[in-house]
Amino acid sequence: MSEDKKVIFSGMQPSGLITLGNYLGALNNWTKLQDEYNCLYCVVDLHAITVRQDPAKLRKASRDVLIQYIAAGIDPEKSILYYQSHVPQHAELSWILNCYTYMGELGRMTQFKEKSQKHTDNINAGLFTYPVLMASDILLYQTDLVPVGEDQRQHLEITRDIAGRFNAVYGDVFKIPEAYIGKAGARVMALQEPSKKMSKSDENKNNTIALLDEPSVIMNKFKKAVTDSENEVRFSEDKPGVSNLLSIYCAVTGKTLQQAEAEFANCGYGSFKTSVGEAVVSKLEPFQKKVAELEKNKDYIEKVVKEGSEKASYLAAKTLRKVHKKIGFIPR
Ligand code: TRP
Repeated sequence: MSEDKKVIFSGMQPSGLITLGNYLGALNNWTKLQDEYNCLYCVVDLHAITVRQDPAKLRKASRDVLIQYIAAGIDPEKSILYYQSHVPQHAELSWILNCYTYMGELGRMTQFKEKSQKHTDNINAGLFTYPVLMASDILLYQTDLVPVGEDQRQHLEITRDIAGRFNAVYGDVFKIPEAYIGKAGARVMALQEPSKKMSKSDENKNNTIALLDEPSVIMNKFKKAVTDSENEVRFSEDKPGVSNLLSIYCAVTGKTLQQAEAEFANCGYGSFKTSVGEAVVSKLEPFQKKVAELEKNKDYIEKVVKEGSEKASYLAAKTLRKVHKKIGFIPR
């Protein structure tokens, strides 16, 4: 990592299948940051177990996320790619920062409230301290910038609070991170319920396009996508379904809204939806091919993961040594 570049950290949970929303809103933008910044992109498997996971599925999902990072264009020669559980410093710092975080502030986290309503039979302590682990992810690398969606803003805020609190006691140990506001990625909404975000944990599979969905599945889901009763392809707040399809179309083709509206001016919803589906299929085709190649290349993936976690661990250990020393732990 070169000293003069700022550090970017982000991560994705290996739960569910990565969606078109994750791709257009995050992954695709991450790839563009690699030359200008020192980037770390982590598969946050420790976070995933805050809700119950099936072991075989978790293993597969973790591998899938890592492979899809690479297939999307994250270059292991430029960025550090690894599994969170392979770098023990995340869990170590997390324990320490737990002791600098208040129950009250964790209790106010929207995501905790939502998830504990959804998983009433498993409101575990990890779910509660989830933001502290996320703070550790970020603070371990003296991260400058964190590209996060709206739903993770609150977690970044608490990260800043925890870092500031620690620094106030011990001096400048942690860099205070900021949200990375890049060129807005597309905000992709659920295909059947366009008032809510496309989410990989959605139970209704017709709401989401998984990046690895077969072309025929993708076409079908677009054909079923909700529109409205007007039969006019126009971007407008009162036409959430059509607007969502238009922004997906623009994001994958690189066309402007005006161009897209003009293109579909005299077009019924049926053929509009077919065109959007086809555009997505052809955008994903090279990506899916790359995934298939990488899946066969186990040695390469193993090498990437090994090197990635070594590099991450080296950087993380530096911060953790400083933390230990400040707190008063006896040097190892
Ligand atoms: N909590 C994030 C999410 O669910 C994932 C995440 C974990 C993360 N650690 C992070 C994102 C650190 C950014 C930085 O989307």
